[in-house]
Amino acid sequence: MSTGPLSTGPLHARPLQAGSRVSVVGCGYLGAVHAAAMVQLGHTVVGIDPDLDRSAGLARGEAPFYEPGLDAMLRAGLASGRLCFSRDIADARDATLHFLCVGTPQAQGRLAADLSFVHSAVDDLLRILKPGDVVAGKSTVPVGTAAGIADQVAARGGTLVWNPEFLREGFALPDTLRPDRVVVGVPDGPDGERARDLLAAAYGPVLDTAPLIVTDYATAELVKVAANAFLATKISFINAMADLCELAGGDVVQLAEALGHDSRIGRRFLQAGLGFGGGCLPKDIRAFMHRAGELGADQALTFLSEVDAINTRRRLKTVAMVEEWLDHRVLGARVAVLGAAFKPDSDDIRDSPALAVAEALHLRGAEVVVTDPRARANAQRRSPQLRYADSAEEAATDADVVLLLTEWRDFVELDPEVLGKVTARQRVLDARNALDRDAWSAAGWEVRCPGRAPVGA
Ligand code: UGA
Repeated sequence: MSTGPLSTGPLHARPLQAGSRVSVVGCGYLGAVHAAAMVQLGHTVVGIDPDLDRSAGLARGEAPFYEPGLDAMLRAGLASGRLCFSRDIADARDATLHFLCVGTPQAQGRLAADLSFVHSAVDDLLRILKPGDVVAGKSTVPVGTAAGIADQVAARGGTLVWNPEFLREGFALPDTLRPDRVVVGVPDGPDGERARDLLAAAYGPVLDTAPLIVTDYATAELVKVAANAFLATKISFINAMADLCELAGGDVVQLAEALGHDSRIGRRFLQAGLGFGGGCLPKDIRAFMHRAGELGADQALTFLSEVDAINTRRRLKTVAMVEEWLDHRVLGARVAVLGAAFKPDSDDIRDSPALAVAEALHLRGAEVVVTDPRARANAQRRSPQLRYADSAEEAATDADVVLLLTEWRDFVELDPEVLGKVTARQRVLDARNALDRDAWSAAGWEVRCPGRAPVGA
């Protein structure tokens, strides 16, 4: 996926058809970004979301989450008169292409995905669908979901396609407008071909650089979950190597570099550390395992339970490293936590490894002070028992140990000399292997990192 700067003007759009409109049903992360991107591509878009706060905020050009560039793109779309938001599905009546973008969280107390938002959005759409309309499912769903919905859409004269989304938080706009690929699962026959052509026209210039992969529903659904399963596996693989490096005296960062030079392996997603979190990878691999079990293929994916277990152990291990460093005198120890978001450039704290570690140390009696450039408010709502600071310096004041848990650029670029003046002890656990540890150790810090030998003092 491209990460370069986006042009601010509209891309050269090939409009769907004069007067045709696009609806985006579900305006959470995926939908809000997709709606803004579709306007950028020259379309007229109505975003539908029943949540009053969310639709009202979006209508003011304010996304309910932090995503670089999104608010500006929403405001440009609103100002163009080609973007609006509504709570009422009836306002999607004029659209010919409807993108289904609702969430599929992990079901309560189960590994499966909760599809209730998908089914209720489809029920809503069925009320307003016209013959010839195309519904493009973008939500991440268990394989077989599209086939179960297709007949309902066809009964109204519409066609369902499945068009999974691969955007990353923090890079959502470039990933949507300049993706690595566009995948679309279509039914056999002329309706499928017509729907494919409509979708291709909607993506217009996006397809100048991204291949369009046309396939069946099942493959399209599987591409998404298989991609997330592969990425999760890559992360857990390098984290398992970090454990090996610690015991054998190797260096996981150098190992990842050397592995990454092999173009069959690649360096990306080999960043060893605290492991993966967020609203996608953890729940998607679980839902994938669950679905495999339903299909009678649970053994095919048992390796994913180990991927999950390795990942969960990263958090416990990080807590254990801190305890050991504090000679197991955690009670009353002051711990500065840099980062609460599940990754940098996001205010998302869903299944955040950073917050999990902060909470666990608090439970063990540490005095934990957390700071995060964007996720502080969300973290404070979820974990009010922790203390919060406005800056790394404030969080680190009198700290016995500093933990880098989310590698925000602000933290990676901290001046170790300056920070060293406010802490009680110069000890930093770089749980993301992101700091320049030579610079930190030269400034008098003891530096510990997963999968590497400790340096300093
Ligand atoms: C992920 C996928 O990367 C997207 O392609 C997909 O569209 C999205 O899920 C989704 O299903 O909606 P995202 O959750 O935004 O995107 O975040 P990632 O960039 O994949 O990072 C996930 C987690 O892995 C983060 O906690 C990150 O810190 C961690 N990570 C990532 C590592 O620990 N090591 C790495 O080398 C890379």
